[in-house]
Amino acid sequence: MNSHLPISINVNKYRFKYLALYHGLREAILEGKLKQGYKLPSTRELSANYEINRNTVKQVYEMLLADGYIHTKTGSGTYVSYTPQKLEPKTVKEKSVKLSQWGKKLPYLYNEEKKVPFHFGIGFSPDYENFPVSDWKRAINLAAKELNYLVKKDLPDQGLYELREAISSYLMRTRGITCEPEDIFITNGTMHAFSLLAQLLISPGDRIVIEDPTFGSMKETLYALEAHLITVPVHTDDFLVENWESSLAYVTPSHQFPTGRIMPLEQRIALLEWANQNDSLIIEDDYDSEFRRKGRPIEPLKVLDYEDRVIFLGTFSKTILPGLRIGYTILPKHVKPYFQAAKHIFQPYTTSALEQMAITLFLRNGNYEKHLRKMNRIYSAKYEKFIFLFEKYLPNAFEWISSESGMHVFGWWRYSEGKYLVFIERCNAHGIYWISDIAGFTEKPPRPAAIFGFSSFDYEEMENAISTMGEIFQEVLHGIYV
Ligand SMILES: Cc1ncc(COP(=O)(O)O)c(C=O)c1O
Repeated sequence: MNSHLPISINVNKYRFKYLALYHGLREAILEGKLKQGYKLPSTRELSANYEINRNTVKQVYEMLLADGYIHTKTGSGTYVSYTPQKLEPKTVKEKSVKLSQWGKKLPYLYNEEKKVPFHFGIGFSPDYENFPVSDWKRAINLAAKELNYLVKKDLPDQGLYELREAISSYLMRTRGITCEPEDIFITNGTMHAFSLLAQLLISPGDRIVIEDPTFGSMKETLYALEAHLITVPVHTDDFLVENWESSLAYVTPSHQFPTGRIMPLEQRIALLEWANQNDSLIIEDDYDSEFRRKGRPIEPLKVLDYEDRVIFLGTFSKTILPGLRIGYTILPKHVKPYFQAAKHIFQPYTTSALEQMAITLFLRNGNYEKHLRKMNRIYSAKYEKFIFLFEKYLPNAFEWISSESGMHVFGWWRYSEGKYLVFIERCNAHGIYWISDIAGFTEKPPRPAAIFGFSSFDYEEMENAISTMGEIFQEVLHGIYV
């Protein structure tokens, strides 16, 4: 009997010798190197030849026996039981996915392979370098101490009461919104709330009012639902309210996305008046208005909402971390039961209770507002730097829409569309991207436009990218590529 088997025992790959032997034998059987009926060496022989403790070998044989790879014959020995299936090459069939009407409307598919070295589009994420790691760790540790209470408690799918209470007092204090914890729902961010609302409130063909340009993800959600979009231009003028026939409007009044404009009070009152007259709802997306370079954050539309027509969406994605997936929705009383039912179907359990508790503590002990004040200073400085670098390396290439808050900038390209396309193509070839195609517009923008995020980059990264863009810009201007 040959006790030297065609197996490899890879002790580096597996932490324990018995696992290395088990996998070595198993793979040899699966690959057909040890064929059905093959008599395995006795545990004594194997142990001697491979210098493995005999009990270990016995344990491995028992594991293989339990898996059905080997069997024993009393008085005769241990044999291989398993024959691998012959793997015939299968004919490769074209696979298809039967998409729903909704699935067919998806705007693009992800290409995992495509790596983008520098994208200003992700630039409007928080600045992770300045994340208050130790304060947050402390909040998480304290929250973990409450875990016992958290697990025992029957957590409402509306979200942790303590967090809703902390949000309602924070909003009252800093934004002037009066709402009860009972009116608030904790969601996995704004997009979660928006997708539930869209499913709940929009049928194909429904007329929905949106700003033009607007946030691409919301627009794509509406397209996929086959909504009919009533677009209100905001790029040249203020948002003008008309007597639209529509039951829903989606707006970003405190910091229009992407132009950065602020909806004037007169228009806010007119919009609320319209909702009231038409028995309509307004979704107010208040995604980043805590970051104001001057003065207090703008008063939300919700503050003027005496008739309870506004669904207010807030998020911790910009102020803490997008990966937390925690946002909140303030619902009008008559919408709440429907939203609750919809949320219950898709997410009967609450968003991570531990992190909800950590945010609660963060809000309660003042660390949240301390963090906002610090980030506001950092983002203001980054904004100044961004504009400075653009004007240094690409003087007058873009006409910026001035904005006093937020983490991104909107600009109009000052030259021809042809030059812009070449400029984009050359920058992309150097690994530099930004939101440039239709820049959130529903139709082609009246002029070539751009959205640049600046908050997550450090000065050096920013300068490297913008100086390269500057060189390309000069070449494009002097007709080298055209
Ligand atoms: C206008 C606007 N609304 C909503 C969101 C998404 O927020 P959340 O991460 O809470 O889903 C973003 C994110 O960039 C945004 O720009």
